Parts: sequence; C-alpha cells; structure tokens
Amino acid sequence: VNLKPFNTFGLPATARRLVRIREVADVRRVVDHAEFGRAPKFVLGGGSNIVLTQDVEAVVLKMEIPGIRLLEERATGWIIEAGAGVAWHDLVRWTVEQGFGGLENLALIPGTVGAAPVQNIGAYGLELQDRVDSVEVVDLVSGRAVVLPASVCKFGYRDSVFKHTGFGGLAGKSVITRVRFLLPKIWQPVLGYLELERKMAETGITAPTSRQIFDWVCAIRRAKLPDPAVIGNAGSFFKNPLVTPEQCRDIIGRDPAIVHYLMDDGQIKLAAGWMIDACGWKGKAVGGAAVYEKQALVLVNRGEARGAEVVTLARAIQESVYGRFGIRLEPEPVLL
Ligand code: EPU
Repeated sequence: VNLKPFNTFGLPATARRLVRIREVADVRRVVDHAEFGRAPKFVLGGGSNIVLTQDVEAVVLKMEIPGIRLLEERATGWIIEAGAGVAWHDLVRWTVEQGFGGLENLALIPGTVGAAPVQNIGAYGLELQDRVDSVEVVDLVSGRAVVLPASVCKFGYRDSVFKHTGFGGLAGKSVITRVRFLLPKIWQPVLGYLELERKMAETGITAPTSRQIFDWVCAIRRAKLPDPAVIGNAGSFFKNPLVTPEQCRDIIGRDPAIVHYLMDDGQIKLAAGWMIDACGWKGKAVGGAAVYEKQALVLVNRGEARGAEVVTLARAIQESVYGRFGIRLEPEPVLL
C-alpha cells in the first residue's frame, strides 16, 4: 500500500499490510488474526504528525471509526464522544455549531480525533488535556476495550502515555478508538494568547463568542501555517524547549529579543521558531525539504521530498541552533 496519500508531509513510503478500522470489533479481528495478531502494529490517524523515512514493516491500522454524539449531561458540562477516525477540525466545528463551547481555540489543527491525545495537541492557550474526560483504548494483545480517565493519560506539553514505548507507555500496545470530551456548561473564553488579544483590539470585540474565537483562530492559522492539502507538512517540527531561568539567563542576556514565556511552574518556554529564524533558516532547503518562509518552526515538502532529506534538514537546524544558543531542539512529530 502506498502511504504517500496517508501522511500530510506527502513522503514516499509503502506498507505491506494495512487494515482499515471502522469499528472497535475490527481491532479485535486483527488481534485474533493468525498472522496479523502477533505482528508489530503501527497506528495511523490522519498522518499529520509523522515523518516516514522508510517503508513500514508493521501492520498499519488505519483508524476510521466515525461518529460524534452527545453522550451525557453532567452538572458541570456536556460529555461529547467522538470516534478516532473523525477529522479533528470537523469535531471542533460540530461542537461550535451545536453551541458547545470549549474546543474553539483548537480549530483547524490537522489530524484525527484518535491522534489528538497522543501528542496532547494544543494551540492559542488551550491544550486537549484541558477538555478531555476519558479515552477509550483497545489493548493490542487481549483485544479488550478499556476507558482511561484523563488523569492516567500523563498529559504533558505535546506528550502523553500514548507516545511512549518504554515501561508504562502505551505506544504500540493499545490503540485509541474513541475520545470523550467534557465541555463546560459555564463556558469562558481563553484569550490570553497575544494574537487573540490583537484580534480583540482590531475588532473592538471584548466578549467574543465561541464562534467568534473559532473564526479568529482559523484566520490566524491560515495566514501563517501551510495548508497540508496544498503544501506537505506536519505542523511544528520542533517542540518549544522548556528551560530553567538559570539555563537561559546567558541566552536572554546575549539575545534580549528572544521570544520567551514564563510558565506556571517557573520554567521558561523559548520560541523555537524564533531561534531557527534568527539562525537564518527561513526558506532554506535540503532537496525537496524546506523551512517554511512564513514560520520557521514548520518544515515543508516542496514536491518530491524524501524522509531522509527532512531528517538531514532537521539535523542541520538542530546543530545550528545548538551552536548559537546551546539548546537542543527536540522533534515534535514521530519519526519513523
Ligand atoms: N517566531 C519568529 N519567527 C518564526 C516563527 C516564530 O520570530 O519563524 C516567533 C513569533 O513571532 C512568536 C513566537 O516565535 O513571537 C512564537 O510563534 P507562534 O506564536 O507562531 O507559535 P509557535 O511557538 O511557533 C506554537 C505551537 C503551534 C501552535 C501555536 C499557536 C509548538 C511546538 N507549536 O507554535 O502548534 O499552533 O503555538 O498556539 O508548541 C503544532 O504543534 O504542530 C503546532 C502548529
């Protein structure tokens, strides 16, 4: 199976075995299958957070479980359940249209509902973990379904238990089949992000609705992030590094313009995009892989890029940022 149409970077790779999962029982069928049951598995959602550098030997489970529904009303909010195969943006739009506020800041993030908890997607001051009630997973050995409350998912900045392969990690061991969200009855807008403040100033709207924020976020993202349907990419290619004030005192001393944010826990988040930009990388390329002109944190496929070129470009950026700032950037998508 050609995987090029199944990864938003548009990188060439093939899989020997790919199974479309349309319902939870399909996972059980794979687990019980004489040959596929024991083989290593690779779970594929929208393919918007992976960099394919070689052909995939594992059995690919292409998650296509559909459905969005209001599951339950609680005193504090509404429980909305969505299938792993639902496009993330479709879920956000549906909730906003139905009058359930709470996901609007996460509009237009590529990928699927099932992939969203893996890296705890986040944007414009909100993270998935702020709205998740629980995650339904199916064990890839026993075929049993379990509902994991958010508290055991170990959500962190672009991180969760689903991203880790080691002890206690669930990557490759279970697959997310449905996600339940708790959307608050008393909705309050999340407006702390600079670009949203700018929109409020521009429009004079001080108390925006969920719909309004949804539209603003769509406009902001369209202006500076490449649409994967037009130009291949996997969103931010690096995480924004978290450092202690001691670690970055020299850096800020030397480069006072460096964009940084103080986190609640006292750590400082440095803008990786700013550092890459400062090293002069915007528009630079290795073969078909390039740094996006409008946002240095995003690597793009100019047409015929190969995974190895993306990796070479990423390494060169890491070395250059390390040389100037002494900071090691970590890739954000999963490298395969
Ligand atoms: N900047 C530059 N030059 C650049 C890029 C950025 O100077 O080439 C500066 C910007 O001017 C800004 C700062 O760096 O002052 C931060 O940039 P921005 O606000 O665009 O956000 P980001 O740190 O680049 C993060 C997330 C995005 C998310 C946005 C908005 C990560 C790794 N990335 O990007 O998430 O959409 O904030 O909240 O945390 C993703 O994870 O795939 C993703 C796109």
